[in-house]
Amino acid sequence: MQETKNIQLKAIKEQFKNELKEIYPVEEIQTFFNWLCESFLGYKPYQITQNSDDYLEGRVKNQFLLALKELKEEKPIQYILGKAYFYGLEFEVNKHTLIPRPETEELVDWIIKETSKEKSRHILDIGTGSGCIPITLAKHLPKAKVFSVDISGEAIKTAQKNALNNEVEIKFREKDILHTESLSELFKEEIKFDVIVSNPPYVRLLEKKEIKNNVLRHEPESALFVDNENPLIFYKKITQLATQNLKKGGKLYFEINQYLGTEMVQLIKMNSFHEVELRKDLFGNDRMLKAVK
Ligand SMILES: C[S@@+](CC[C@H](N)C(=O)[O-])C[C@H]1O[C@@H](n2cnc3c(N)ncnc32)[C@H](O)[C@@H]1O
Repeated sequence: MQETKNIQLKAIKEQFKNELKEIYPVEEIQTFFNWLCESFLGYKPYQITQNSDDYLEGRVKNQFLLALKELKEEKPIQYILGKAYFYGLEFEVNKHTLIPRPETEELVDWIIKETSKEKSRHILDIGTGSGCIPITLAKHLPKAKVFSVDISGEAIKTAQKNALNNEVEIKFREKDILHTESLSELFKEEIKFDVIVSNPPYVRLLEKKEIKNNVLRHEPESALFVDNENPLIFYKKITQLATQNLKKGGKLYFEINQYLGTEMVQLIKMNSFHEVELRKDLFGNDRMLKAVK
């Protein structure tokens, strides 16, 4: 979007408020504006007020106007900025990767608290996305050897960049987990894992109407949805693979569909796992499960 006239920072702030007020609560618009000012101008919130008479010129003004247009189209602010924060770390995100969710932070927190920091553990994450799970685990469990697999080559590329930026080493593989016979074939070595974790696609197509527009229009479908007829397809496959490649006493952690907690517990117990624990997320929904082999 090209505009020739320069505009004052306070005027563009008013423009954001007026043009977005039908779509977002006023506090959210303020937060978006603060983040954009930090990203485009390097301003902290108090500096926005101090410098509100400044004129925005050329490229910077166009960055604000483009962001305004994208917010009107309900593009998530994380995709506009190209980054998201997860467990205190920064991750590049783009149209190939899901935006990391706070529920997933809770799952990762559970694993970090239950895994030894002193011993060398083998950890596998299935469904890399931005790499938020394996990278955060590697950062907080420095002796762990962390592996991660995703069907999307573009997601893996983004996760590789994120691993580099966060200064951790992860072994990534691009592979369809549903067409994987054994986890050993993935990494060309016989590994017995201490921990396997996955946040696979789990939203049934019938639940699409519950999903907000900004998610539906902008986040990758293949990261989110499963058929109504076989919604546990990923969990069945991963549990079966885990029975072969998880150590005895090793732990399986899943993020799950809030409506399928009971079915998940049944599935895991049928596969001879024990100490099955279902946990709720911060919104009070059944969202995480742990089981021991
Ligand atoms: C719900 S997203 C989770 C992404 C990331 N772990 C997170 O928590 O933000 C699911 C991920 O699984 C990947 N995926 C989908 N189908 C897959 C398959 N058949 N094999 C491997 N990965 C798959 C998607 O590309 C996506 O990155």
